[in-house]
Amino acid sequence: MSKALQEAREYELEREAQISVDERPAFHLSARVGWMNDPNGFSVYNDMYHMFYQFHPYDSHWGPMHWGHAVSKDLLHWEYLPTALAPDEDYDKDGCYSGNAITLPDGRQMLMYTGMSYETDENGERKELQVQALAFGDGRDYEKYEHNPILTEADLPEGGSPYAFRDPKLWQCKDGTYRALIANDVKGCGGQMLMYRSDDAIHWEYSHALVKNHYRIGMMWECPDFFELDGRHVLLGSAQDMLPDGLEYHNGNGTFYAIGTYDESTEQFVWESDHTVDYGIDFYAPQTILTPDGRRVMMGWMQNWDTCNLRTESIPWYGQMSLPRELFIRDGLLCQRPVREFDALHGKETTYKDIRVDNTEITLPGIDGSACQGHQS
Ligand code: FRU
Repeated sequence: MSKALQEAREYELEREAQISVDERPAFHLSARVGWMNDPNGFSVYNDMYHMFYQFHPYDSHWGPMHWGHAVSKDLLHWEYLPTALAPDEDYDKDGCYSGNAITLPDGRQMLMYTGMSYETDENGERKELQVQALAFGDGRDYEKYEHNPILTEADLPEGGSPYAFRDPKLWQCKDGTYRALIANDVKGCGGQMLMYRSDDAIHWEYSHALVKNHYRIGMMWECPDFFELDGRHVLLGSAQDMLPDGLEYHNGNGTFYAIGTYDESTEQFVWESDHTVDYGIDFYAPQTILTPDGRRVMMGWMQNWDTCNLRTESIPWYGQMSLPRELFIRDGLLCQRPVREFDALHGKETTYKDIRVDNTEITLPGIDGSACQGHQS
């Protein structure tokens, strides 16, 4: 284990002990210590849900990214595991950026993530060189692939920027081969989502651009996800620097989805409609999984890049995930409901009728405690 990883593991263990349970949300996964942003490697592995996350243990602000790690049996109660990745190689020395996870035929879990290292150009401008890298593990400890990076600038199509090439989403096709969808910025177009293919999940080659932005939804795109749902295909993305279009796509960074058809033989996606994933502003970089009983469940970073500096400086942790939401399509729209695992948490239901709630404090016997769910009719 590298010194950087060992230090992060020791640090999180020691500092976590100083944060009481009462200082944390009851069901939202929060940073173990320090800073959390995007969900990473959201997956089902060895009968557990795994959630990794963009993590800077040493400060409650963004910094050199590690991958924090937590597991859960019900998507609501999470147990922290030791930090999975630290920025400890030349190609990721300034950050292990977002990525995804997949189970290999030999039973190992494989992570694909973006390695970031700063470069200074001839004008003295600092740029983030981004490449893709692999790590293999057993659900707790991960070893980076000795032949990393596995995708670099040389694997980009013409015009694609090596300084905005990140956040792979992985899946295995019905014929056993693998695909990765990776966000990229291309000259004159803004974001595009690039498809890469592999026979063994380890050796990858560029295939084609699945979709391009043409500056319609923001500028650069990040954090793709792509899946079949209710007979349609859905692309999720997070766009930077959006401008609103009516009620869609509020200012700044936000999410979008596109629903369309995907032809598996030609691997072409026909984009039919698109909307915002979550009309609130604190939702970004979502990832999804398919649960063992066939539900498509999504979790996102419950924060917004534009507002995340508006807070107390001295807090020991910052950043949490949204609750898990089951996705479905109704009337051509992507809909969401809290996962049914919540039902198991409900205690006794208390009902009141015709109660007037105004500015005065009222006490209603049976309604107390630190966590309750309300319905109003
Ligand atoms: C999205 C993002 C990703 C990147 C990560 C870095 O929030 O910018 O594109 O991988 O955060 O922390």
